[in-house]
Amino acid sequence: MDPLLSYRSEFPILGRCTYLVSNSLGAMPRAVPDRLAEYVDAWEARGVRAWAEGWWEMPVAVGDELAPLIGAYPGEVAMVPTVTLSQLSVLSALQYPPARDEVVMTALDFPSVRYAIEQMAPRLGARVTSVPSDDGLVMDADRLCAAITERTRLVAISHVLFRSAAIVDVQRVCAHAHAVGALVSLDGYHAAGVMPVDVRAIGCDFYAGGVLKWLCGGPGGSFLWVAPEVSQECAPALTGWQAHQRPFAFEGEMAYAAGARRWLGGTPVIPALYANLEGPRLVRRAGTEAIRHKSMRQTAALIAMADARGFTVAAPRNPAARGGTVAFDVPHAAEVARALLARDVVIDFRPGAGIRVAPHFYTSDAELEQVVAEIDDILRSGAWRAFEGVTSTVT
Ligand SMILES: Cc1ncc(COP(=O)(O)O)c(C=O)c1O
Repeated sequence: MDPLLSYRSEFPILGRCTYLVSNSLGAMPRAVPDRLAEYVDAWEARGVRAWAEGWWEMPVAVGDELAPLIGAYPGEVAMVPTVTLSQLSVLSALQYPPARDEVVMTALDFPSVRYAIEQMAPRLGARVTSVPSDDGLVMDADRLCAAITERTRLVAISHVLFRSAAIVDVQRVCAHAHAVGALVSLDGYHAAGVMPVDVRAIGCDFYAGGVLKWLCGGPGGSFLWVAPEVSQECAPALTGWQAHQRPFAFEGEMAYAAGARRWLGGTPVIPALYANLEGPRLVRRAGTEAIRHKSMRQTAALIAMADARGFTVAAPRNPAARGGTVAFDVPHAAEVARALLARDVVIDFRPGAGIRVAPHFYTSDAELEQVVAEIDDILRSGAWRAFEGVTSTVT
């Protein structure tokens, strides 16, 4: 018996469908309505006093709940609205003199982050170099390191690639970047919650992620950790009164707060922060070592089933280089994905990668066998044809 299956009762949706899409939106913990009710009660009963009674501190208090999941200490993690914004704060906090004006990214980073950095960098006097990938699925650490030079100010890359779940050798990238005087900002959206993360062992300077996927914390919560020794040297231009040492003095000049507060902006999104809490708590209770162990076993089982059917697998074969998602290309993948959704087997589809199946700590082995059996049936029976030409977005 898999002890992690005892967590299934914490997630109501698991009783209603086959939920294999935690790489997109983790299942909602059943305690979330209680937390949201606390928010409503505080607003209703305490009104403006709720700010002093906890709301104002929430972006760092919720960050403290996440800190152990990434090897950070209390007071080091700020909750911010989106990862995209967190990466812009980081970008905006550094100087780009002509001899250090380069930001290195890769072709496989999440497009939202790439759009934002590519738009903002030139306005700050920086220029972006994007390291290509031959197969569009993995990022070769040698190639990445070769692009990081004395000219590089910031390396802003994913820890785990969203399309293929390939893990980038970020420890190596950080060591090389530091040797040439560059800083490293990691987007750990597809790492935190599905594998142990230790920001200090990795040696990065900035680490961001969101809670809505593997951390089951719902939309509206992203976290940013900054190495304390780096943070104190930074002056993020993308800022706001929450980052001021004395926000309620309404002073004329900016004076950055210390620690995680330095990375905040304007008024925090309080209801999201209430909702964000329960998922990370459950992930902590389950333990990221145990989650990772199970994830490697279940992704291997999925790959074996895909191999047996001759489906092309995008995920790396080496479990140590693979995150929590297995993407495989089946014939008519977009239509098959829609047919699966119509059968309440919830997965997602990405062009170039195929159907993405993401088991999490609450997933049973039977559910993995079910998704593959349904794919077999959809292909064999021709049920996919009913979805030809349907262009609605798939999760
Ligand atoms: C790797 C990665 N980074 C960033 C994002 C988006 O972050 P946000 O919408 O919080 O800016 C995603 C969303 O899927 C992602 O997969």
